[in-house]
Amino acid sequence: MVELTLPRNSKVQSGKHWPAPAGAKNTRAFKVYRYDPETGLNPRWDTYDVDLDACGPMVLDALLYIKNSIDRPTLAFRRSCREGVCGSCAMNIGGRNTLACTHGHAETPGKAVQISPLPHLPVVKDLIPDLTLFYAQYASIEPWLHTDTPEPQSEWLQSTEDRAKLDGLYECILCACCSTSCPSYWWNGDKYLGPAVLLHAYRWLIDSR
Ligand code: FES
Repeated sequence: MVELTLPRNSKVQSGKHWPAPAGAKNTRAFKVYRYDPETGLNPRWDTYDVDLDACGPMVLDALLYIKNSIDRPTLAFRRSCREGVCGSCAMNIGGRNTLACTHGHAETPGKAVQISPLPHLPVVKDLIPDLTLFYAQYASIEPWLHTDTPEPQSEWLQSTEDRAKLDGLYECILCACCSTSCPSYWWNGDKYLGPAVLLHAYRWLIDSR
C-alpha cells in the first residue's frame, strides 16, 4: 500500500507554550498555527493560555489579546471590521472555516481552541493565507453590470420582484470560507472558480438591469 506523507519541511511541529499571566483564574488554551517563511523553519503550533476574564467572547478578541498582551511583535492575522462584514478574519477554528470576529470561543468544543489559516492555500505568514488566485478569479468574472442597452439618464430602475432575485446572493462578503472548504477547489483551484466566485457570477447574470 502506498503511504503518503507531507514533505519534511512542511510538517507542523510543536512550538512554544505561553503560560497565562500570574493570578489568572479563568483560562483556556489557544493552539495557534505559526509560520514565517523568512526563517526557513517548519510551521509550528504555539499554545497560549489566555486569561478569559481579560478578553472578549470572540476568537478574534482572544487573538487580539494574544497580540496585545503576550506575543505582540510576531503573531500575524488579518481583521478589519469586527462585524462579520469585511471577511478579512476568515480562518479555520476548531476544524471549521469561519470568521474569527463572529465565532465565540465558547462555541468551540474541546480543551483547546485550535486556529489555523484557511486550508489549501499558500501561507503568507501565521494565519494569513495568500488569496491572490481567489481575487484573480473574482476579477475574471467581471463583477459589474454588462448591458447592451444605452445607459439611462438617472438611476437604473428595477422591479421589486427582480430586486428580490438578488437576495441570498449579494450578501456574500468574499471571505473565501466556502471555497477553501471545497475539495474540488482544493485539487483543481487553477481550473475551477469555486463556490464563492460562481455565486457572484450568477448574481450579476440574473440582475435584470
Ligand atoms: S473582521 Fe471583518 S469579517 Fe471579521
